[in-house]
Amino acid sequence: MDHKVLFFRNQELTSAQHVEYGKAFGELEIHPFTSNLEEQPEIIVLESTPENFVAAESWHSDVTFRECPPKGSVLVGRVLPPYGGDTAWADMQLAYERLSDDLKEQIEGLYAIHSYEKVFGANRTGHRHAVDEVVEKAKEQYPPQRHPIVRTHPETGIKSLFINRNFVTGSVGMTQDVCRSRRHRLYEPVNRLEITCRFRWQPGSVAQWDNRCTQHYAIPDYGGFHRRMERVTMIGDRPR
Ligand code: SIN
Repeated sequence: MDHKVLFFRNQELTSAQHVEYGKAFGELEIHPFTSNLEEQPEIIVLESTPENFVAAESWHSDVTFRECPPKGSVLVGRVLPPYGGDTAWADMQLAYERLSDDLKEQIEGLYAIHSYEKVFGANRTGHRHAVDEVVEKAKEQYPPQRHPIVRTHPETGIKSLFINRNFVTGSVGMTQDVCRSRRHRLYEPVNRLEITCRFRWQPGSVAQWDNRCTQHYAIPDYGGFHRRMERVTMIGDRPR
């Protein structure tokens, strides 16, 4: 809660230990669209190869298209490129605090619509494993969700900005124009390096974060090299 993201070096976690560690913090979800380990479906595989370059190269919180988005994630670096491939995190409580009073007032009590469509839908940009029929069916299972733009952390009671480029497709009660320009201003704080940190992966590195008050970004600067990360994700509660 104090640090929002923690980093551990020199861990030699097996997949079973990865799952066990995640479970110590809450029930684990199974991601509906990404490729998961067959024997441990709670583990998501985020893999980029020279033939198929894919990276989570947009600021986001994980899986906010769910009614109850994850409370946190634990990411393990399995195959790392010889250079690059760092991950950055942004503190969304600081992002909120730094908004002007005027903008804070304008967004208080407003909701954004979160959907899997942009990243995992037909014209997807992200890691996706599911076949088109599964994605089509998911429309019923994962309808767009309305989450507050200003979220109050369920444990610390601190407010944060809960809106991200990957999954937000609109806002409630605003015209498209107002919504677009306001969203632009709300996405801007993650570009402030002073509210971010950046982690250089090494073999045995593990990162763990609070998904309710941070966003992260996988930096796609490792050219044609192989990078494979594995993640477990703890189920959270409905944002308020
Ligand atoms: C993620 O978005 O969870 C993956 C981050 C990374 O690949 O560094």
